[in-house]
Amino acid sequence: MKTVTAIIGGTGLTELEGPELIRQHDMTTDLGKPSGLIHEGLWMGHPVLFLSRHGHPHALPPHKVNYRANLLALQQLGATRIIAVNAVGGIRDDMVSGRIAVPDQIIDYTWGRESTFFDGDFLPLEYIDLTHPYDETLRQTILQAARMAGIELSVDGVYGATQGPRLETIAEITRMERDGCDLVGMTGMPEAALARELNIPYASICLVVNPAAGKSAALITMDDVRAVIGMGMGRVRDLIATCLQQS
Ligand code: HPA
Repeated sequence: MKTVTAIIGGTGLTELEGPELIRQHDMTTDLGKPSGLIHEGLWMGHPVLFLSRHGHPHALPPHKVNYRANLLALQQLGATRIIAVNAVGGIRDDMVSGRIAVPDQIIDYTWGRESTFFDGDFLPLEYIDLTHPYDETLRQTILQAARMAGIELSVDGVYGATQGPRLETIAEITRMERDGCDLVGMTGMPEAALARELNIPYASICLVVNPAAGKSAALITMDDVRAVIGMGMGRVRDLIATCLQQS
């Protein structure tokens, strides 16, 4: 089967430079419209789909993203694996600003989001296994690509998915740390679970864009976040390009 890699870009990756555009899809699924146009292209000869999770320009807050429509649309366009890009706050000591991490676990603190296809309306109830929320083969592909490209990263991590759009309090981060979270972001769920429901291998490349609340003496400013994104997204893009060469 031909590999079609879908890339879901997060904050700081609303456009993807590199692929030659073949066409743009303005889709409406049975569960509504995805966040924006889906770009179909070829990147060094490899078929790719690109969707900006927050729309383009960046406008949709994390709790208003139609994750189900995004996943369904990518499935309908033939995605055989999904690489998600997430901007996150760093909790664990090695998760400093600018660090790339490939998480291996998730704790979900989100609420009120449409978080399943098996809701009894769209599809009959079914329980999916989410023991390992990220696809291990795809995670290893990313780690191998990082070695090939000489990109240093954290090879694991627990992603704590918060509701947002506000950032956390120190007490919330302290609790998340006690729970075992290494990273904090707002968009990791329900995306990962929905991909599993559709049986599409899914993994995330996280870019740490700020120390989580209380992890640095300074307050978190969007200027600082933008500066880290400016310096770090190029490496994320190079990492994805190297992953494609292994497909
Ligand atoms: N918290 C939650 N989500 C985030 C953060 C954060 O500190 N940084 C980027 N996304």
